[in-house]
Amino acid sequence: MSTAASQIRLLLVEDVPQVAQYVRGLLNAQQQVRLLDVVSDGRKVPGLVKELRPDIVIVDALLQGKVRGLAVAANLREGDLRLPTIVLTVPQNPVQRDPSKGVDYVLTMPFSGYELINLLQTVAAEAEASKPEGRSFVYSIFAPKGGVGKTTIAFNLAVALAQLGDVKTVLVDGSLQFGDLRSLLRVPADTPSILDLPTDRIAESDLSDVLWRDPSGIDILLAPPRVEMHEMLTVRDVDKVLSILRRVYSVVVVDTPAAVGEMAMAFLDASDVIVEIVTYDSTTIVNTRSMAEFFRSIGYPPSKVRYLLNRADSNGGIDPASLVASLGREPEFRLTSGGALVVESNNQGIPFVLADPAAQISAEMARIATDLMALASAGVAEPVKRRR
Ligand SMILES: Nc1ncnc2c1ncn2[C@@H]1O[C@H](COP(=O)(O)OP(=O)(O)O)[C@@H](O)[C@H]1O
Ligand SMILES: [Mg+2]
Repeated sequence: MSTAASQIRLLLVEDVPQVAQYVRGLLNAQQQVRLLDVVSDGRKVPGLVKELRPDIVIVDALLQGKVRGLAVAANLREGDLRLPTIVLTVPQNPVQRDPSKGVDYVLTMPFSGYELINLLQTVAAEAEASKPEGRSFVYSIFAPKGGVGKTTIAFNLAVALAQLGDVKTVLVDGSLQFGDLRSLLRVPADTPSILDLPTDRIAESDLSDVLWRDPSGIDILLAPPRVEMHEMLTVRDVDKVLSILRRVYSVVVVDTPAAVGEMAMAFLDASDVIVEIVTYDSTTIVNTRSMAEFFRSIGYPPSKVRYLLNRADSNGGIDPASLVASLGREPEFRLTSGGALVVESNNQGIPFVLADPAAQISAEMARIATDLMALASAGVAEPVKRRR
């Protein structure tokens, strides 16, 4: 379970090379914690924190130089730098835990790898639990067949979720080969894509250069502009991108790839909820059943997937009861056909939920967004990780 999304990102502020080396050694053989960098100059900490976005900072109380150890810890309490800080010390120099001075935790040398990782996990869990804005949620829009409304629904759902209140929302075009959003939104040809994110150090500021700020109020991470370019991305990149987006946005919506390959699985694994689109169409129904079996075989609980029946008002001769029988349950969400409204807004690159908020399909989409949000905040949707 070594996905980047669950890794603790650590910054070490240490000017004694032997201690830095010791910590590196302890963290070398494990996956739970990633040591982002070791910095020996206290003055560089604020800049590095902004750049590297660690979850936790460890500071040596005896750090020498212009900004000493305890001053570094105290600075980490200020404003947007607010980060859990562990102060490292030796028995001869006892330090009192005092969160009001930025000494959130104290770790006294010598310590074992087990003690270090245990403490980091405790700190990360406490920080997560006390986050005022709560955790963020990833919704993947998935369909076992093309052309059933995946892109249209992902775009409109993202906008509907953003409209629920001050919900910072990003839409990721996970259809890495044929990024439909690029053409749907008619963005300029040189608009950056997921490939333009640096792969080693991703900072929040990099995001703002790469994301498309859509007039609909959401930010969009586009797919590469050319078909063959998707090969430049790895599963690890996808993990990393989602992990950084989770830090900045409350809601991440993914228009997943059409083929069920390792990229699609990277998105699905990292999702809190998979919204799987079904339609009254015999191929879709059969594929949906195979997908349900596959999801079960890899350990996804049934609650991770929510079915959205698109064009629910036109059953094309298929008995609604047989659809329910195939799914094994009633689809959780329904969306009627939006007719000209959907086609016209897609052609203009605007979401139908904004083009005509009073339309039935827009009201239904708003309802789906509300239900998904409620599901998330009720904690029903813990992400289920799978070993790759
Ligand atoms: N509920 C709906 N009502 C009307 N048209 C729809 C609806 N859902 C999808 N469409 C239309 O179906 C076509 C395919 O949708 P799209 O979102 O591109 O599917 P996918 O991403 O699954 O390939 C588009 O022309 C879209 O406008
Ligand atoms: Mg599509």
